[in-house]
Amino acid sequence: MMSKVMNRSLQPGLAAVAGLIALLVLGTASAAGGGAALHDKANNDIGNIPSLQRGAGNFVNYCMGCHSAKYVRYNQLARDLQMSEDQVVRNLMFAAIKPTETMEIAMRPEDGQRWFGLMPPDLSLIARSKGPDYLYNFLRSFYLDSSRFTGVNNLMLPGASMPHVLAGLQGTQRAIFREAEINGTVQHVFDRFEQVSPGTMTAAEYDEFVRDTVNFLDYIGEPVKQKRQSLGILVMVFLIVFLVLAYLLKREVWRDVR
Ligand code: HEC
Repeated sequence: MMSKVMNRSLQPGLAAVAGLIALLVLGTASAAGGGAALHDKANNDIGNIPSLQRGAGNFVNYCMGCHSAKYVRYNQLARDLQMSEDQVVRNLMFAAIKPTETMEIAMRPEDGQRWFGLMPPDLSLIARSKGPDYLYNFLRSFYLDSSRFTGVNNLMLPGASMPHVLAGLQGTQRAIFREAEINGTVQHVFDRFEQVSPGTMTAAEYDEFVRDTVNFLDYIGEPVKQKRQSLGILVMVFLIVFLVLAYLLKREVWRDVR
C-alpha cells in the first residue's frame, strides 16, 4: 500500500521531468502535428493467453533489438503464458542463455545515445505509465516525414526518435492535417492517414498484431506491480522489527545511566 501511495505521488513528477527532457532534446522538431491525435481503444485482454503468446513473440522479434524488459524473467513468462520452458527457449530466448535470466538487451546506453539521441526506454513498465490505449495508438500512428532523421514522425509522440520498425507489416502512410480554429488561433489538426505503400498485412491484421503486442506490454507491467507491492510490505515489516529492536536497545543503554 505504501508503494501505491509513493507511485502516485511520484508519477506526475517523473512525467514533468520526462516532458522537460523531451522538450530540450526535441527542440522545435514537434512543430507539425499537435491537436487531436488518435483516441482508439486497445481493447486488449491480459487474460487472453494465446494473444499474450503472440505478443511475446512480436516483442522478441520486433522490439528487443532496442528495448529491454529487464524486470521480466523468461521462466516467469513460461509459467504465466502456459508454455513449457523448452518452448520459451526455442521461441523467445534469442538474447539469453538461461531461462532464469531477465529480458535484457545488448545495446549499450552510449550506442543508444549515438544512434537515436537517447537510449530506447525499458518497456517493463511502459503500459503502466502510458496506458495500453496510448501504446495501441502510438504503434499505429507513424507517418512519413522527411524532416526527421528516421524518415517518420509519430502522431502520439511528435518528434519521436523511434524508427517505424513495423513499416514492413503496416506499410507506410502519410498524415493529412487540416487547419482549425481552436481558442481563437489557427492550428494544424490531424485529419486522417492516407496509405502510401502497402505492407504485408491488411489494416485489420496490423491492428491485431499491435493489440497482441500491447497486451503483452500490459501483462508484463502486472507482475512487476505485484513484486513492487510485496517489496513494500517487506520493507514495512523490516522497519517495524527494527523499531522494536531500537527501542529495546535504548532501554538497555539508558537503564544504567539513571
Ligand atoms: C531500432 C530501435 C527500436 C526498435 C526496434 C523499437 N523501438 Fe521503440 N523506441 C525506440 C527509441 C529510440 C525510442 C525513444 C523515442 C523518443 O522518446 O523519442 C522508443 C520509444 C518507444 C516507446 C515509448 C514511447 C513514448 O511515448 O515514450 C514505446 C512504447 C516503444 N518504443 C515501443 C516499441 C515497441 C512495442 C517495439 C516493437 C514493436 C519497438 N518500440 C521497437 C527505438 C526502437
